[in-house]
Amino acid sequence: MLEKAWADLAAHRTRTVSQHLRELFAADTNRFQTLSARLEDLLLDYSKTAVTAETIELLLALAEAADVEAKRDAMFAGEPINTTEGRAVLHTALRNQSGKPVMVDGVDVMPEVNAVLERMSAFADGIRSGKIAAADGGRFTDVVNIGIGGSDLGPVMATLALAPYHDGPRLHYVSNVDGAHIADTLAKLDPARTLVIVASKTFTTIETMTNAATARRWIAGALGEDAVARHFAAVSTALDKVAAFGIQPDRIFGFWDWVGGRYSVWSAIGLPVMIAIGPENFRAFLAGGHAMDEHFRTAPLAQNLPVLFGLIGLWHRETCGYPARAVLPYDQRLARLPAYLQQLDMESNGKRVHKAGGAVTRPTGPLVWGEPGTNGQHAFFQLLHQGTDIVPCEFLVAAEGHEPELAHQHRLLLANCLAQSEAMMKGRTLEEAKAQLTKQGLSPEAIEQLAPHKVFPGNRPSVTIAYRKLDPFTLGRLIALYEHRVFVEAAVFDINAFDQWGVELGKELATALLPVIEGKAPAEVHDASTAGLARYLTGR
Ligand code: F6P
Repeated sequence: MLEKAWADLAAHRTRTVSQHLRELFAADTNRFQTLSARLEDLLLDYSKTAVTAETIELLLALAEAADVEAKRDAMFAGEPINTTEGRAVLHTALRNQSGKPVMVDGVDVMPEVNAVLERMSAFADGIRSGKIAAADGGRFTDVVNIGIGGSDLGPVMATLALAPYHDGPRLHYVSNVDGAHIADTLAKLDPARTLVIVASKTFTTIETMTNAATARRWIAGALGEDAVARHFAAVSTALDKVAAFGIQPDRIFGFWDWVGGRYSVWSAIGLPVMIAIGPENFRAFLAGGHAMDEHFRTAPLAQNLPVLFGLIGLWHRETCGYPARAVLPYDQRLARLPAYLQQLDMESNGKRVHKAGGAVTRPTGPLVWGEPGTNGQHAFFQLLHQGTDIVPCEFLVAAEGHEPELAHQHRLLLANCLAQSEAMMKGRTLEEAKAQLTKQGLSPEAIEQLAPHKVFPGNRPSVTIAYRKLDPFTLGRLIALYEHRVFVEAAVFDINAFDQWGVELGKELATALLPVIEGKAPAEVHDASTAGLARYLTGR
């Protein structure tokens, strides 16, 4: 069934590949209405991709053949769909506001989820009001979150995205094991006024543990060992390891193994965000995620935003053969969204074997990259418009900014966003280029010489996600939309999107190389390049 669905799509592509997007728009004045979908104010416009109503039918048949609905229901039902780790996948429970139970192994997890949320709220309120004070009784003005990967990227992305709602202490994030990161961060801060949150699902990640030890020395060195208890909090699933680090039980916020690191911003890993924007706004963020969950769970596939978004992604990656996708937020506060999505998408779907262990026979997840517009326009958009590779683009844009006094700048931003997707779609023909140069009064020779450089092939696909305003609820919907899109793609690939064994080998080799770098083991046991580099870098 699945192979037939793929073959039907391939045949359809062969039949339609010569149609330019310009022609598709010219032939169907309803194209935008037909090929866009909405969840309230959230709009997904995929009309600027080379699909037609027929393509969507074929893609929906693919989703059916791949059992996307049954796989989705298994996730929401708490089945152990993360097969290589034997775990359920239930980040959706963290934002479940339906009042209904969510069962894992016969136990309703909602009472525990809600209890942690309550404790986080009380702690965040205490820090924000000054009721939970520093060792000297004064207020915390700064919070440093130490974590990496999913214990960093989500909170970093959300803190910036929700800056207009930030009325709590200043937030700082340290992730890299490069000492420069923590040194530069702490250099600006007063230990007496700083709370440190150590965030690690496993509480074993070497980068986080090393930075946490550095921060501990910084606090203890300046304020004395007794101050450590007042200046540290931690978030983890490994409560015993956190206790061993010396963090007080009432400062430890837990979560569960059924929350993947890259899906954990909704859990206690979101604590720094909650401290920044307050519990009420954080709950609005969760509510946004829940609204998207309900939509994904219940909307018919043909109107289901994550399903359609996933299918368009599959169309580009599999049928059209495009190896990458660019995330282009025309929303400066989503500047860290591309980095966040790199982990969400590439750590989830960068896989080479099926769930059952056999090698995949089709490409899996694409490369994900991007930068906010308009900055990207002055950097890499040249390649997007005229390069030899086609990179499907994803534009994100709000109808309204948060700066009414700068509404004219927002209008300029909107014009640029729409101009880019229009230019990618339409392009500019040789005739149009020549006509423009003629109008500018160039000589026929100069026109002949210059015109080819001014041609834009167009026919370059993009999706636009538009929303009214980037508030906490909308950010929640956007992130959940992307999570479920990754899920839909993985369901069709038939891979496990919830493990990440590909990060292991590098970690093991780093452990083996540290003694070499420290001069305690010979470099020669490694390959000639690695040994040569080690000798160069250590001067031995
Ligand atoms: O190395 C990859 C990874 O395991 C990610 O999946 C995870 O988000 C990150 O490391 C951090 O892990 P932890 O939260 O356990 O410190």
